[in-house]
Amino acid sequence: MHGRATSFLRRAMLYVPASSTRMLTKSLGLTCDTVVYDLEDSVPPAAKSEARDALEQHLRGLPERPSSISEIAIRVNPAGSSFLQKDLKLAASSPLVNTVVVPKVTTIGDLRNVSHILKNLENNQYKETRAKPMRLIALIESARAIMNLSSICRGPRLDGIIFGAEDFALDLSLTRTPDLTEFLYARSAIVTAARFENIPSVIDLAYTSYKGEDGLAGLEQECRGGKALGFNGKQCIHPSQVETVQRLFSPSEEEVEWAVRITIANEKAAAAGRGAWTLDGKMIDAPVSGRATAVVDKAQKCGIDVDGLREKWKDQEPE
Ligand code: COA
Ligand code: MG
Repeated sequence: MHGRATSFLRRAMLYVPASSTRMLTKSLGLTCDTVVYDLEDSVPPAAKSEARDALEQHLRGLPERPSSISEIAIRVNPAGSSFLQKDLKLAASSPLVNTVVVPKVTTIGDLRNVSHILKNLENNQYKETRAKPMRLIALIESARAIMNLSSICRGPRLDGIIFGAEDFALDLSLTRTPDLTEFLYARSAIVTAARFENIPSVIDLAYTSYKGEDGLAGLEQECRGGKALGFNGKQCIHPSQVETVQRLFSPSEEEVEWAVRITIANEKAAAAGRGAWTLDGKMIDAPVSGRATAVVDKAQKCGIDVDGLREKWKDQEPE
């Protein structure tokens, strides 16, 4: 079933290079939806095994996931890489790791391969370690991946899809522009394919000019553009970006208030047998009230006080 009113999950994902013990430590004090410890492209090949060891030590030293972090992920090396097996073993060995980010996915086979390796680890060596199977998030960052999107989105354990802009630009020899028109087809294709398969989150490109006031203004603008296209999260490369991304990908106050009023009035309209009705002079029908339900659902997941708003608007009537 492709449910219309289910909301996407918000995900601000901060990459933390596993090769930097300073950044590993820093990550623990941050407030962030997803911290992604990176073993892939922020770590040069010669430093891979040292970075994996550093990450292992870091995770071993943690009694539990800090409450300010909702999810811990590891970005492993791609399917076919000689590092993958050891990277996945590390992920499976820690009860604190919820999710594996798989880079450079080009076919559903890449995800099946990773899922198969994880299943063996979860059922055997780490049977006692893990309460839940790990989820996968796929990075789409090549022409081949875009052409295979509809099958990739049916991959096992999939909980999210990420658009990787830098590798995609490299693969297609694109010229980067500030308004991102060169990525419009790929970004929109990703959101559409992921939504069709009801994948809980679709995460937009990273904004790389992270410094200064201009950096934050540009980031805000890019978040608004991504949200409008249907993304519900964004990759971050610096801690200073996370608050902005989380704020902009949460429903705004006005949006939640609008949605709560509609859901309350809609119940009354439905009880009176009315399919279409009016609020503030605008027509409301099933797709609009469906969107309102999704906003309320997402607001709850983002920790917004929806019950307070329901109380405030309990007397809202359909016009
Ligand atoms: N995760 C955790 N901590 C980070 C961080 C990150 N991604 N980026 C910076 N920090 C920390 C720094 O260590 C520093 O900590 P301190 O207060 O203990 O000194 C603090 O935040 C301020 O950092 P700053 O000096 O502004 O940046 P930097 O020069 O140390 O690092 C980058 C800049 C771009 C090299 C760094 O942000 C980075 O490596 N980002 C991730 C890159 C990546 O993973 N790319 C692959 C995915 S696209
Ligand atoms: Mg990449």
